[in-house]
Amino acid sequence: MNVLVTGCKGQLGTEMRRLSGLHPKHQYVFVDIDELDLTNKEEVQRFVEDQQTDVIVNCAAYTNVDGAEDNEESARLVNAEAVGNLARTGRKIIHISTDYVFSGEGWLPYREDDVPAPRTAYGRTKLEGEELLRRLCPDAIVFRTAWLYSPWGKNFVKTMLHYGSERNELRVVYDQIGSPTYAADLAEAIFAALDADEWHPGTYHFTDEGVCSWYDFTVVILRQANDILGENRYNARVTPIRSEEYAYRTPRPHYSVLDKRLVKQIFGISVPHWTESLRECLKQMVL
Ligand SMILES: NC(=O)c1ccc[n+]([C@@H]2O[C@H](COP(=O)([O-])OP(=O)(O)OC[C@H]3O[C@@H](n4cnc5c(N)ncnc54)[C@H](OP(=O)(O)O)[C@@H]3O)[C@@H](O)[C@H]2O)c1
Repeated sequence: MNVLVTGCKGQLGTEMRRLSGLHPKHQYVFVDIDELDLTNKEEVQRFVEDQQTDVIVNCAAYTNVDGAEDNEESARLVNAEAVGNLARTGRKIIHISTDYVFSGEGWLPYREDDVPAPRTAYGRTKLEGEELLRRLCPDAIVFRTAWLYSPWGKNFVKTMLHYGSERNELRVVYDQIGSPTYAADLAEAIFAALDADEWHPGTYHFTDEGVCSWYDFTVVILRQANDILGENRYNARVTPIRSEEYAYRTPRPHYSVLDKRLVKQIFGISVPHWTESLRECLKQMVL
């Protein structure tokens, strides 16, 4: 099959490109906004016809949570309307969504059929994208993920490494719980869906294994980075604080844990624990 991967300069798209060589079953074309602006419906249709695309993996998104709050229409264009443009091409689609479609007020891992209740503009626009896709393309595959990081782009791990070597103290919330997810692991789950003998439409939750707070995550990031380097470069003291003590512009979910039973059962994948994957990622970042 000819597979088109969008958003290829983002965190997940970069991992899809990096790992595609290990998955020679299909031919891949990678694009980002410079080659193909997904908000342009005609251009999208022309591109997939020219490329004879069979499957689209949509890694493109408007991911700036605070930016979306200030400008919901810009977020909607990419997170919903562009998804509609992809769906209308009639190709098979694998699309990525987020824990932000849920309220974040739960206390048990979210299942795929739990009722969404987004509390942010980002979450609302991502949910609109999901719903549009299901309506226009009922055999689409949707992977919802959370707490994504990688050596590329902007993410929590890179921010903590930056400040962890510059500051004496990092104050980090301990009352928001989730599962850190290495973008390479999500990419491998997507390859499992692409390489499967059968197409399995539906919505699936994917994160790395295990659960922690942003505070716990930070402690382990700095500890593992020092361990890999064999020196104490990241020696900021990490202090746990409550969300009220941090000046968030946009409310953050307190509980983002996703139930992964379905994705493991359908695609037969084993999911690494976040501490193992973090070490793999840090080796690329700090050495
Ligand atoms: N990051 C997280 O923690 C997280 C958590 C849960 C779910 N997700 C979801 O996971 C997916 C991948 O996230 P990510 O962190 O890899 O995203 P990312 O790093 O922000 O990458 C998204 C890419 O899409 C591109 N893009 C934006 N508008 C576009 C347009 N109109 N046409 C074509 N490309 C466009 C962006 O280009 P520019 O940079 O030039 O805008 C960027 O290269 C997204 O669906 C996201 O919603 C992410």
